[in-house]
Amino acid sequence: MFWRSAATITAAQQTTKLSSQAFTQVNMAENEAKSDGFLTNIVLEIVQSPLNVALVCLIGFLVYKILKSRQDVPTSKASEPELPKLKKRDFTVEELKKYDGTQEDGRVLVAVNGNVYDVTKGKRFYGPGGPYAAFGGRDASRGLATFSVSAKTDEYDDLSDLNTMEMDSVREWEAQFKEKYDLVGKLLKPGEQPTNYSDDEEDETPTANAEKSKDD
Ligand code: HEM
Repeated sequence: MFWRSAATITAAQQTTKLSSQAFTQVNMAENEAKSDGFLTNIVLEIVQSPLNVALVCLIGFLVYKILKSRQDVPTSKASEPELPKLKKRDFTVEELKKYDGTQEDGRVLVAVNGNVYDVTKGKRFYGPGGPYAAFGGRDASRGLATFSVSAKTDEYDDLSDLNTMEMDSVREWEAQFKEKYDLVGKLLKPGEQPTNYSDDEEDETPTANAEKSKDD
């Protein structure tokens, strides 16, 4: 008797197990169908708008460039020893242009918010062929503020037409540059005289004493 009821219980358990398995499978199938539908919806959304297609292409292109520049790092590192720290000095827009990474020493400088940073260690971003090569040897402020990697500024740009939000964004970017890269000096306005940095001043920020920063 006992074995029969035990067998009945086992059979019942088996049935429950099977039905719960079937339930799980149905659930999984439903979930798959749901996520399939979700993915299809996303793809349809993207394909239906030319702007979305363009954005996806831009993202793909930048990801490709970044991944490619990452792969290129070992070769360029092997052939390029680390450069000595640049002596503190100010730059005119013209002088800055030379430092786009194409010159012999390969140093790359970028100006943000009136200050010049040595971004050579980020050469895969700002050097020739990098995703942000347009910023190398230039004032990147406008490009960073307007989220454009192709905004090339060849003349001195006083950024006076940028709105508060754009200027806030420039300052946020500058904080990131300050954290990661060496500050070399100031970007000079037309006619502005370069600061005479004494050796003691080496560690001071060039804007510490003067009102030159575009923070105001
Ligand atoms: C929409 C597509 C974009 C993608 C997918 C993308 C992706 C990335 C990634 C993955 C990094 C970090 C790389 C790393 O640290 O290894 C990065 C850094 C950066 N991105 Fe973009 N980005 C895009 C658009 C832009 C635009 C439009 C700008 C210009 C305003 C920009 C400016 C920068 C800068 C300045 C860095 C910092 C590089 C450094 O560390 O010095 N990005 N981006």
